[in-house]
Amino acid sequence: MKVIKTKSELADCLQQFRNQQKTIGFVPTMGALHEGHLSLVAKSTESCDITVVSIFVNPTQFNDKNDLANYPRCVEKDCALLEKAGCNVVFTPEVEEMYPEPDTRQFSFGNLDKVMEGEHRPGHFNGVAQIVSKLFDAVKPDKAFFGLKDFQQVAIIKAMVKQLNMKLEIVPCPIIREADGLAKSSRNMLLEPQYRAIAPKIHQTLAEAAKKRDCTPEQLCQWITSTIDATQLLKTEYVQIVNFDTLMPVEKLTEAEKPIICIAVWAGKIRLIDNFVL
Ligand code: PAJ
Repeated sequence: MKVIKTKSELADCLQQFRNQQKTIGFVPTMGALHEGHLSLVAKSTESCDITVVSIFVNPTQFNDKNDLANYPRCVEKDCALLEKAGCNVVFTPEVEEMYPEPDTRQFSFGNLDKVMEGEHRPGHFNGVAQIVSKLFDAVKPDKAFFGLKDFQQVAIIKAMVKQLNMKLEIVPCPIIREADGLAKSSRNMLLEPQYRAIAPKIHQTLAEAAKKRDCTPEQLCQWITSTIDATQLLKTEYVQIVNFDTLMPVEKLTEAEKPIICIAVWAGKIRLIDNFVL
């Protein structure tokens, strides 16, 4: 497995594979890797000849400076995991390599970046689009793999690929969870024990909510919020039931409306997101 820090070295290395007609799969990450990330690597190694993983904590997508400063960083451990997982190339650029000058591009995704994470983390998806477009340019993959844990991010990336007319396939991959249901996340390791103990309540509540269809989406959201907030330790930031494709609010909880519940919850100082397809 090669560990590469510059775009030019990456381009040279990947061109050799392309010359041999090998297909390239790409998994962008911010490191602190867990089984969620490794499931994407597995999907890539299954369907592509060469798998590239990037590890880059992208400053432009953090709207909270503390979150950026506290984001876990453990590149050596990550590389050991990636080597075992069959990754061929790890790209670990410094900030100056990806942003030799400030990226002033402003993306616009209509409703997709206005709601939920877009509303509560101003600038977040613009930063994601900036870095992912740069990474796609650097790697030029045939396929890129993204987790549905960040459901809205997948919608944004698909829209960005269309807008920029990029020729690659975006492959959405299922959410990997802990045994107790908590969605795996690099931020879970930052949870104090009492918050870690209660955090599975988020998924449990969404799974229970999925069984209730004889109410309106608003009523269901209220029930979810009050059930989660009753724990005292968890505080719901938003919960919304939207159409899977458009991210517009659904009118009814019928399958035809393709509803998905999306939620963000504060567990002390740590913000967790999750979702559940109805
Ligand atoms: P990061 O949070 O490191 O996640 C990298 C990829 O792993 C994303 O596609 C994310 O959805 C996926 N992932 C995380 N937890 C998962 C889980 N429990 N199950 C399945 N997939 C999971 O998302 C980012 O980084 C950044 O925004 C990035 C796309 C790298 C741009 O900076």
